[in-house]
Amino acid sequence: MSTLTLSTSKPSDLKVDALVVGVVKGARGVVLAPGAEDVDKAFKGRFAATVEALGGTGKAGEVTKIAAQGQTTAPLVVAVGLGDQPEQGGRRGSKPAPFAAETLRRASGAASRALAGCARVGLALPTSDAASVEAVAEGALLGAYGYHRYRVASKGDHKPPVGAFTLLTAAARDREVRTAAEHARVVSAAVNLTRDWVNTPPSDLPPAEFAAAAVAAAKEAGLTVEVLDEKALRKEGYGGILGVGQGSSRPPRLVRLTYTSRKAKRSLALVGKGITFDSGGLSLKPSAAMEWMKSDMGGAAAVIAAMTAIARLKPEVNVTGWAPMAENMPSGTAQRPSDVLTIYGGRTVEVLNTDAEGRLILADAIARASEDKPDLIVDIATLTGAQLVALGSRTAAIMSNSDDVRAGIAAAAERAGEQMWPMPLPEELRKSMDSEVADIANMGDKYGGMLVAGLFLKDFVGEGLSWAHLDIAGPAFNESQPHGYTPKGGTGAGVRTLVRIAEDVATGTL
Ligand code: BES
Ligand code: MN
Ligand code: ZN
Repeated sequence: MSTLTLSTSKPSDLKVDALVVGVVKGARGVVLAPGAEDVDKAFKGRFAATVEALGGTGKAGEVTKIAAQGQTTAPLVVAVGLGDQPEQGGRRGSKPAPFAAETLRRASGAASRALAGCARVGLALPTSDAASVEAVAEGALLGAYGYHRYRVASKGDHKPPVGAFTLLTAAARDREVRTAAEHARVVSAAVNLTRDWVNTPPSDLPPAEFAAAAVAAAKEAGLTVEVLDEKALRKEGYGGILGVGQGSSRPPRLVRLTYTSRKAKRSLALVGKGITFDSGGLSLKPSAAMEWMKSDMGGAAAVIAAMTAIARLKPEVNVTGWAPMAENMPSGTAQRPSDVLTIYGGRTVEVLNTDAEGRLILADAIARASEDKPDLIVDIATLTGAQLVALGSRTAAIMSNSDDVRAGIAAAAERAGEQMWPMPLPEELRKSMDSEVADIANMGDKYGGMLVAGLFLKDFVGEGLSWAHLDIAGPAFNESQPHGYTPKGGTGAGVRTLVRIAEDVATGTL
């Protein structure tokens, strides 16, 4: 990953390949954002006019590149749009309102993406406090992501991400600001790790390999890790994971990661769906629907990566991560529609559709996680196409058996800069999963499919435990164009929120 250091240096003297400043869309044209003063001086007060002459307006995400012609040490100055001036809150004459963290994160990310190929980049964006430094740092490090592992022939259009960022801020020596920058480095590394796993072709990331990668990452972060292979899964009765995995020649796994804090008073369990490829099984998907199903392990990847970040940030909470992994394939050994599975703990499920496989492996893991009676269980999964229908491709859904937890997670996501929205679990939908032969069927009403899946999972949460379910089917993978700090392909959705949830459980906020 790119490096990021803080500095109080003067932007115009900085020895970098490019310098990034912010511009705002004012009522009468482009307005410079705080941080751009020194560059404007170097441009003899004509910086905003130069941006306008090049067609810049200051709208969010807009990138205008300006050849500095010796006016600054950096040969290239980049003006990135921050959108409209934030609403003035207080009295007249009071300090201007700060930019929203997500505005800064996106602008920093857009500039970072546009500067791929540069070795060194200086960031002179508005940073008034620790929160804004964290946002600018995260945007830069997340925008500087590329996945080039399988590219052999150089087409010339795939430049390496920025090597080193220097974030310029007057508060560079402030302890809170330094902590915020470190938080951004740790969390961004976790997000980018998730993206790498999601982008890896499924041929190279079957359950055993994914589990081995989890072990390596966990050990490096100082986590305790344990992997159950197919023999251990059979011995302990994980019928859901085994049922889904039995159609593949590459057997399933269950990974458990443990982080403990000596000062912890509370505990959290994170559970992530790890379908390394979802063909649908015998209820086979059409070709087009299968194209991006390598991303069906995005929940497990987010949990494992978030655990590595948690181990480095050391919140005062005990966290266990569960990552059930299986490949959903059709074959002579595959499970059939109408088969009955016994989930961990003994409840039975009639499999009416083998493409509703995520809930089967999650049921095992949620039932097992419940045994430890954590204060909160949060599962995260690319669970339903219905999530995309309901909320679009960028907004994840939050469901829970507790109104407070649902609201608390919505707040955590907001602060982490992730789009997530509360959704209900209407009790009346549960009966659509009543089975003639088993305790429950894995399919129900065709309307509200995301909620039906949530209600299925709820059945496997231990009595009296708090639980939330995050459906990230859309947000985990970006099929269209890059935007802000989000690349094409794997996005790392959920990681930042999971880390935030752990911190909030630690402090008692959640
Ligand atoms: N992995 C899919 C959900 C999905 C769809 C994720 C599109 C990302 C993009 C999941 O396993 C699935 O196939 N769900 C079915 C459930 C149905 C059979 C009840 C679906 O949503 O169609
Ligand atoms: Mn499926
Ligand atoms: Zn799936």
